[in-house]
Amino acid sequence: MTDALFYYRNKEFLIPSEKTDHVKEEKKEIMAQSPIEKIPMEEGSKAKKVYAVMSGKGGVGKSLVTTMLAVAANRALQKKREKASGETATESVASGSIAILDGDITGPSIPNAFDLHGMADSDGQLLSPMVTEGGIKVMSINLLLQSETQPVIWRGPVLSSAIRQFWNEVHWGDVDSLFIDCPPGTGDVVLTILQSIPVDGIIIVTTPQDLVSMIVAKAVNMARLMGIPVIAAVENMSWYECPDCHTRHEIFGKSQIEKLAKDYRIPHIAKLPIDPSITALCDSGRAEEIPDSFLEYLSGIIEG
Ligand SMILES: Nc1ncnc2c1ncn2[C@@H]1O[C@H](COP(=O)(O)OP(=O)(O)O)[C@@H](O)[C@H]1O
Ligand SMILES: [Mg+2]
Repeated sequence: MTDALFYYRNKEFLIPSEKTDHVKEEKKEIMAQSPIEKIPMEEGSKAKKVYAVMSGKGGVGKSLVTTMLAVAANRALQKKREKASGETATESVASGSIAILDGDITGPSIPNAFDLHGMADSDGQLLSPMVTEGGIKVMSINLLLQSETQPVIWRGPVLSSAIRQFWNEVHWGDVDSLFIDCPPGTGDVVLTILQSIPVDGIIIVTTPQDLVSMIVAKAVNMARLMGIPVIAAVENMSWYECPDCHTRHEIFGKSQIEKLAKDYRIPHIAKLPIDPSITALCDSGRAEEIPDSFLEYLSGIIEG
């Protein structure tokens, strides 16, 4: 075992709760080693709320959940705007917007779900996010590459610097809620996101079999050590309903989300079924057509 691994083993780095003093000490130590210097957005932009969507590992539906949260928030905003039409519309309702920062630089999947292709505009200093048909602002590495199939072969520090630029070198404008689709796990880029961006809350996405392992616990503990609240846990692919007999099958095993929420004191949980029609919508760039009935599974996670 290397010195570093030995150190962490002895310090019980993977800790289940914050109750004990040694956890508080550990937290202080981490903060001291890597002080959090939140970076402001560029002068002409501001985001009222920033949410990061994390997971223990890839392929659990993080990008789907980010997409759904943004689409739901955008629908709510449009409704508010319609209601407060004309003179009664407050300035913030009139000028606000919903945004997605695609933080998964090596596996970007947000632009495709919204049928956004080509290159984002730039005025030489700032980049402009691309805007979906429904009005959601998106920035992703795929909107900066000459070819969508070009791989990004960068090491950690370059990836992290790209994330910071997505935050403060993009003219986001007036944003009500900005959702960050994090890369899977608890690596370098996620650390940069949680350290440099003023994230208000984290949403953890899991699948039932994922919860059996300790991978989710790592993500929850990382959030905790960074001092950012985990506001919700979403269990994706929780069940599949047979279209013929309407029986629910727990394909990936029994739901474990209640236990996770209790153990880690996560205030809100949500469960999503497996629904091939949703995959089809996202794969064909029509994420904004996800029906309200499916978005409702996530209701209550974010305010407004
Ligand atoms: N509940 C679901 N029902 C059907 N398909 C899903 C569901 N959740 C995710 N998928 C599909 O599974 C794949 C992986 O999901 P994705 O959101 O890209 O995962 P991640 O971002 O965590 O890697 C995508 O093709 C997505 O459309
Ligand atoms: Mg993804």
